[in-house]
Amino acid sequence: MPKTLLIKNIKELVQVEDAPRSQPIAGADLAILPTIKNAFLLVENGRFKDFGKMENCPDRADEEVDATGRMVFPSWCDSHTHLVFAKSREEEWVDRIKGLSYEEISNKGGGILNSARRLQEAPEELLFEQAYERLEEVKNYGTGLIEIKSGYGLTVESELKMLRIIRRLKESTKMGVKATFLGAHSVPMEYRNGNRQGYIDLIVNEMLPQIAGEGLADYIDVFCEKVAFSVAETEQVLEAGAKYGLKPKIHVNQFYCLGGIAAAVKHGAVSVDHLEVVDDADVDILKKANTIATLLPSAPFFLNDHIPPARKLIDAGLTVALATDYNPGTTPSGRMSFVLSLACIQMKMLPEEAINAATINGAFALEAANEYGSIARGKRANFFITKPMPSVAYLPYAFGSNLIERSFVSKVSDAS
Ligand code: NIG
Ligand code: FE
Repeated sequence: MPKTLLIKNIKELVQVEDAPRSQPIAGADLAILPTIKNAFLLVENGRFKDFGKMENCPDRADEEVDATGRMVFPSWCDSHTHLVFAKSREEEWVDRIKGLSYEEISNKGGGILNSARRLQEAPEELLFEQAYERLEEVKNYGTGLIEIKSGYGLTVESELKMLRIIRRLKESTKMGVKATFLGAHSVPMEYRNGNRQGYIDLIVNEMLPQIAGEGLADYIDVFCEKVAFSVAETEQVLEAGAKYGLKPKIHVNQFYCLGGIAAAVKHGAVSVDHLEVVDDADVDILKKANTIATLLPSAPFFLNDHIPPARKLIDAGLTVALATDYNPGTTPSGRMSFVLSLACIQMKMLPEEAINAATINGAFALEAANEYGSIARGKRANFFITKPMPSVAYLPYAFGSNLIERSFVSKVSDAS
């Protein structure tokens, strides 16, 4: 990026903050989306320097872009992905078309274990290159901050391999990247007959100390579900993670309400993710907590499963974020714009609510809102320019079009 970059004649500059917020947006406030029409945006040394109405536009910069007819948004903050994986799984998808369920495939040793076998065999360099390509793809779709999980390793060696790849991705891209340790994604076959505790012990006694020792993870995750880990097992893993300062962001309530939300909140979870099924007790617990409800509507879309009850959560005053869940099993797509379309069409979120949930609340779900998630002076200049559009709502409305014309991400080292 040049030292100073000026975007002029912006039809609408979206998600602007004069004073950056210190709390995520909850409940009815989600419908408020601050924008400026006929605006300019000035970037200096990789950070937002200034913005405002065109009548106050500076008269020069090192580089200028005329955005007539176009809008500018802060980059999407995708707070839940499994972007490092070895191969796609369309054969399981065809099995589901023929009638098998996700759980049946998983119980047969397919699903996550299928991805784990493939990842264990794949060379690190190849996995890195494939994941880097996916990062570039989602950057062009407008994402500027992303979380990436391990969880297809399921051995000490392969979980470390995944997390080291994520660290390399962090070092190689200008996007913001956060790493989450998801050793508790599935119980490997050899531990399923009477020795589940053996696998949990491996996570607690061998994986976690090495991961923490190398500083490879920002968060800890568990797939708390009938096909994966019970609430009691989830709590063991979260307690062990807490000893290394790893806060939870967990997979919960994807298929069943088991009490995992209460456990996550008890352990100080930053977010609870999925929530395709939510009961009244879960809502009451979340009302009293600071935990963000992260919804991943492209997963149930792909599985043809329950749609997360976004309205129930928002109308209860809760904080909702949106993310892709990009992974080969339940969401082979990292496209946030499509997630917004599903949020509006299937979950009845207003476009403004969906945009807040996919930008600033996603940044809070990664504890990175000081740097990402809105157009605010001093934040990183991660943003995208749309193609010409009639209105903000047009972006989720036109679900099949790629309306992102140019995506900008900057490392602050751009300053030099
Ligand atoms: O978030 N549900 C658990 N994990 C992923 C799917 C993983 C897979 O099927 O490979 C998810 O949907
Ligand atoms: Fe996931």
